[in-house]
Amino acid sequence: MRLDTSYADKFIKKADLESVKTEVIECHNMLEKGSGEGSDYLGWLHLPSRTDKKSIEEIQLAASSIRNSCQACVVIGIGGSYLGARAAIEFMDITRGVKIIFAGNNIDPDYLSNRLDELKGQDIAVNVISKSGTTLEPAAAFRVVMDEMKKRYKANELKKRVICTTTQSKGALFQIARKNGFGLFFIPENIGGRFSVLTSVGLLPMAIAGIDIDELIKGAVCAEEMSASCDLEKNPSCKYAVYRNILYRMGKKIEIGASFHQSMLYVLEWWKQLYAESEGKNGKGIVPLTAIFSTDLHANGQLIQEGERNIFETFLAIDEKSKDIALPACDDNLDGLNYLAGKGLSFINKMAYKGTSLAHMQGGVPNMTLSVKERSAFCLGQIFYFFQRAVGLSGYLLKVNPFNQPGVEAYKKNMLSLLK
Ligand code: PA5
Repeated sequence: MRLDTSYADKFIKKADLESVKTEVIECHNMLEKGSGEGSDYLGWLHLPSRTDKKSIEEIQLAASSIRNSCQACVVIGIGGSYLGARAAIEFMDITRGVKIIFAGNNIDPDYLSNRLDELKGQDIAVNVISKSGTTLEPAAAFRVVMDEMKKRYKANELKKRVICTTTQSKGALFQIARKNGFGLFFIPENIGGRFSVLTSVGLLPMAIAGIDIDELIKGAVCAEEMSASCDLEKNPSCKYAVYRNILYRMGKKIEIGASFHQSMLYVLEWWKQLYAESEGKNGKGIVPLTAIFSTDLHANGQLIQEGERNIFETFLAIDEKSKDIALPACDDNLDGLNYLAGKGLSFINKMAYKGTSLAHMQGGVPNMTLSVKERSAFCLGQIFYFFQRAVGLSGYLLKVNPFNQPGVEAYKKNMLSLLK
C-alpha cells in the first residue's frame, strides 16, 4: 500500500507540514493511550491483530451453513452496519454462490418490494445487523422480510436461516433472537458502527458471499503494523491525515474520493460515511464526496477542473489488472481509434487517470493517490484499516470527537414525532 502525495506537495508549505507533523504525534498518542475524546470506542484500533482464529472459524461455519442451504441471503442494516459488507462484496465482484441482497438501508417501498420479487422461488436466509437493535430502517425491513420468511419456513427451519448481529445482552434485536432461537453474533460495545467492518458486522455477510475473510484480516493487520510509527514516510495513514488537515486549513473544504475502478464505488461510499460521520461536527469538517471516473469526468469533472478552488482529491488505485480487454482493430477506422488497436482497456484507463490527476493538480486541485497491489481481500483489508486509522487521527487534528454522531439524532427525533 502506498500513498503518493506528489500532486499535493507543491500546495503544502514546509512550515505547515512541520507544525501538523508535531500535532499528529499527540493525536497518535491519544489513540494509543486512549486519552482523547470518545476513547470508549477504540475497540477497532488493534482489532485486526487481536482477532482470534476461533471467532473467524465461527463466522466461517455460520456462513458455510447458509452457503450450503440458500441461493440468496438478505443482509439488513444501514450506515456502518451495512456499507462495509457492501463495499467488500462489490469490490470483489463475486458472481458465483449465494447472492447477497441488501435491505433496510432505506425506507423506499419500491426498493424493498423489488428485492422481495427477486427472492421469489429462492431458498433464502437473513442476516439482520443493528448495534443498537432499534434503528427504524433495518427494524422495519426485518419485519417485512420476516413476514415473507414465516410464510415459507416453519419455526425450526427459521432458526437455521436467521442470524442477528447486535450488541450482547441488550437491545430489541438481542431479545428477538433469544426469544426465537435465531443465530447470534455480537458487536463489541467499544466499536462504533462505522468502525465495525472488521467485526462480524462486515465479516459474516462477506463470508456468506464467499470472500476470504482470513485474508482480509491479514491485510488489515499489515496496515495496522504500518500505523505503529508517526514517521510520515513509514505510515501512509498518518501522512494522509496530516495532508488533508493542512489542505482543510488552507480552505480546501471538499474532498473528492475518486477512482477509475468501478469496483471501488462502494468502498468510496463506505469511506464517505466513515469520514462524514466522524468529522462533521461542531461546525467543522471536510465534506467527503465520491466520484467514479471516467464516468464522472463527464459530470462533475468540469467543476473539479474549473469551479471554486475549495477541493482536493484522493484517488484509490489498483496497481495490477485482474482482467483486461484489448481494443480490436477496425478496417475502416471511422472512429480513428486504430492507433490504440491491441492496447488493453487497462492501459487506456491508466492513462486517463494519469492525465486527469495531472490536469486537476495543474487546475489547482491538490491530489493524492492511495494504491494497493491488486483487487484482493488482503488489499481491501489494508484499505479498510488505513482509512479507519487515518480518520481517528484526522478527527483529533480537527479537535472533534471522531467516535460519536450526535447530529444523526435530529432527523430521527422529528421523524418519530411525526410518525407517532
Ligand atoms: O456509524 C454509525 O454509528 C452509524 O452509521 C450506525 O452504524 C447506523 O446508524 C446504524 O446503527 P445500528 O447498527 O445501531 O442500527
